Formats: sequence, C-alpha cells, structure tokens
Amino acid sequence: MIISFEGIDGSGKSTQARRLMGRLSQFKTELLYVREPGGTDVSEKIRSLLLDPEISIVPFAEMLLFSAARSQLVEEKIKPFHEKGGIVICDRYFDSTVAYQGGGRGVAETDWLESFQRKVTQGVWPNRTYLVDVTVEEAQRRLASRLTGQETPDRMEQAGFAFFERVRETYHQLAQQDPDRFLVIDGHQSEEQVELAIWEDLKQWLKVD
Ligand code: ADP
Ligand code: TYD
Repeated sequence: MIISFEGIDGSGKSTQARRLMGRLSQFKTELLYVREPGGTDVSEKIRSLLLDPEISIVPFAEMLLFSAARSQLVEEKIKPFHEKGGIVICDRYFDSTVAYQGGGRGVAETDWLESFQRKVTQGVWPNRTYLVDVTVEEAQRRLASRLTGQETPDRMEQAGFAFFERVRETYHQLAQQDPDRFLVIDGHQSEEQVELAIWEDLKQWLKVD
C-alpha cells in the first residue's frame, strides 16, 4: 500500500507522516518512509539544487528536476518495497508537482502533468492521499515560528503568498477530481485531532482496530 501526504509548506503534513509511522510501527508490517524531493543519493543531490536560495531555475527545468528525483526514488526504493507488500508513506509525491509546478508556476495543464507523472512513477500510484489543508496565512505563521533567527527560507519557500494560494487551490481541484483517492483533512485542528482523523480513515483500509 502507498499512502501519500500532501499540502502547502507549513500545513503540518510531515508531522502527520511521522505520527502515522509511529502508529503503524506497532503492527507487524514492513514500513518505508520517504520524503520528496530526496530519499536516494541522486535525489538528495537534486534536492539541494532545488532548494538552494542562491540558484535560479526556470519553471520547466524545476518541474523536470523534481520529476528526475522522483523517478530515481521510485525505481530504487518505492517500487521494490511496494512489490514486496510493504507500506510506503510518502511525505509528498507527484501531486506536489501538479500543484506547485502546474498550479503555482503554471508550467503545464494538470492533465498533461498527470500523464507525464504516470511515466515518471511507472504508474506506481498511491492508494490513499491525505491532503492536510490549512490557509496560507496559517501555514506562513507556522513556518515563521519554525524558522530560527539565522535560517533563510529555502528557494521554494521564497515564492510569494499568491503562489501558495494557487498551489492550495490546485490541491483542492485535484481532491475534487479524485475523491476515491484523496481525503481532505482540516489541518487547523490540533496535531492529535488531525492524527485521529487520518487514523480513523486509514484503519478501514488496513482492516485493523
Ligand atoms: P509541513 O511538513 O507541511 O511543512 P510541518 O509538519 O513541518 O509542516 O509543520 C510545520 C510547523 O507547524 C511545525 O513547527 C509544526 O510543529 C507545526 N504544526 C504541525 N501541525 C500543527 C498543528 N496541527 N497545529 C499547530 N501547529 C502545527
Ligand atoms: P521541504 O523542506 O521538504 O518542504 P515541506 O516540509 O513543506 O514538504 O521542501 C520541499 C519543497 O519543494 C516544498 O516547498 C514543496 C516543493 N515541491 C515542489 O514544488 N514540487 C514537488 O514535486 C515536490 C515533491 C516538492
């Protein structure tokens, strides 16, 4: 099974991906946590390029770099693990590219990006996607309190408010188009409440109590 977490930066999705790992570790099942971009040597190198605030990357090249990092991750880690029957938790997956590079940067239409991502992922698609949804104002408040005095925002975090509004809106459209895969969770609730909402849903899929 493949479970992905999506949402704008600062929505709280990594917190939830970690909490879910904690819950699932009680069960006798093989678990893999992957964070995008990253997770392999090549993908981590691409990650440092993509997030470096000193580097300028044109939108289409940005889309290809996120996709290149993903292609390597799918082939090296996600696909073999999934084929062995393990549970993969993806802290972001291809929906991020559709929302950020499609909606946010406007590089291409959703349909085109989705069919491209079918190739990038070799059709390895999530069974369930949790969209942790918060307003851009709330996400930015959370990010501001996470950043310490010295740390500068990464290259993607430097995109403006309107960019994140478009990303959030695109996520909403994706969730509406595919209600069987997506569950939208109100991320303004406490961490515990969000965790519980996800668990209540997932346990039906896993057939556990
Ligand atoms: P993301 O992975 O979506 O960027 P994080 O999980 O890193 O977000 O969370 C961003 C910040 O918000 C962190 O400082 C985290 O502790 C805090 N946070 C996460 N979930 C909540 C929540 N439900 N309520 C308030 N703050 C939260
Ligand atoms: P990260 O620090 O992992 O952010 P977060 O904790 O919010 O996930 O940085 C990843 C950044 O890259 C984040 O701003 C989202 C962006 N991104 C894309 O624009 N496209 C993508 O396909 C992926 C996977 C991430």
